[in-house]
Amino acid sequence: MLKDSLPEIITPLPGPKASAILKRREEAMPGAIKSVYPCVIRRGEGAMIEDVDGNRFLDWVGGVGVLNIGYSHPELIEAVKEQSEKYFHAMMNIVTHEGYIKLAEKMNQIVPLKSEEKKTMFANSGAEAIENAVKAARSFTGRPNIIVFSGAFHGRTLLTAAMTAKKSYASGLGPFPDGIYRAEFPYLYRKPEGYSEDEAMDYYMERLNKVFEEASPAEYVAAVVVEPVQGEGGFIPAPMEWVKAIRKVCDLHGILLVADEVQTGFARSGRMFVSDYWKEAGCAPDILVSAKSIAGGIPLSAVTASKEIFDGVKSGILGGTFGGNALACASALKVIEIIEREDLCSRSLEIAERCRREFLLWKEELKEVGDVRGIGCMMGIEFVEDQESKKPNGPLVSDIVTYCAQHGLLVESAGASSNVIRFLCPLVVSDAQIERGLEILRSAIETCR
Ligand SMILES: Cc1ncc(COP(=O)(O)O)c(C=O)c1O
Repeated sequence: MLKDSLPEIITPLPGPKASAILKRREEAMPGAIKSVYPCVIRRGEGAMIEDVDGNRFLDWVGGVGVLNIGYSHPELIEAVKEQSEKYFHAMMNIVTHEGYIKLAEKMNQIVPLKSEEKKTMFANSGAEAIENAVKAARSFTGRPNIIVFSGAFHGRTLLTAAMTAKKSYASGLGPFPDGIYRAEFPYLYRKPEGYSEDEAMDYYMERLNKVFEEASPAEYVAAVVVEPVQGEGGFIPAPMEWVKAIRKVCDLHGILLVADEVQTGFARSGRMFVSDYWKEAGCAPDILVSAKSIAGGIPLSAVTASKEIFDGVKSGILGGTFGGNALACASALKVIEIIEREDLCSRSLEIAERCRREFLLWKEELKEVGDVRGIGCMMGIEFVEDQESKKPNGPLVSDIVTYCAQHGLLVESAGASSNVIRFLCPLVVSDAQIERGLEILRSAIETCR
């Protein structure tokens, strides 16, 4: 079966059928939707893709965090088929479908928030859910401003592009929505020279206070939006001590803490959400945004907030035609059931332990491996020219990505300088596939350095 197989490349890449389709892609699609991979999928199973020429790839990108339960889980196919035989769609402003309610109830049960009284609404994409979280926060607090961070990625709509740090995603698109202010994210690998971690924490909190002093007074701030592990920004975890300090500042000033768990959610971190760890440490968010793996590949996203927040949002402000689509809700209910039953949180920690051990070994042996970091299976390896200078080594990562793809392993870069390899493999990957993937990645680094 494809899901149990190992990567195998049997044609030059891209193969003849893939080349023909990629050529048509160039003609039919905007080039702005970028891709560097020579892979045209015919089918996927587990963590494996078979392309249209019969090549087999091990997928460690998983649709950028969408495929935590892997491709084509048989129970998921059944659940979506069963729903499709009843109805595809019922718009919640007109006709209520119970799948939406069931999924909202489930999310209210599993999403860790400061409040135990919760409500959930659904949208179609991560960006759309972030927009809705911002709308809810502004409507509830009656305040205009939002604080985001250096390195943040929250999407590509105009509001979320304004919230996103990397301005190459927004070049030439202004004017942007107002009221977005940026503070410095605690990127400990690149903390100010000579600072201890404690001193660095004080430094980052001072930077936030500067935003309150010089840009937006705290009483004008509706929400602080944080990725618990920055994704596009380079797989940088928010240190718990910093999150606790942010929670305190939010409580002091009546600001809502929003966790953007679009990429970190659904067992990726070893818990259903990183906010589970936050909650245990006494700093749970007020609003949690999730998407990507929630419905195993059918577009769906969610905003979960306290009842108090959602009940304080004016009528008509939230909603949309497809948000909480019936097929997507049926799929999400099954995804969550599978994650819980197959205990993919424990599997995430197991995979993480194996890979981290290997990555740390590479860090000892190879001067280009600067940092290994992450939470659970949301891991990144930051590449540098050498460990002393820490100069970002984007070209090396670009070569590694290309080498890996040519040898049947899909990996992706991240970070402001595209110098981080991110690890987002489906949590159903087999031990043999992990070992093979590690071999390919190691030989890519050794060949390309
Ligand atoms: C943390 C985070 N927030 C928001 C988004 C935007 O999600 P979408 O692409 O579904 O709009 C992403 C996408 O990568 C993300 O990683």
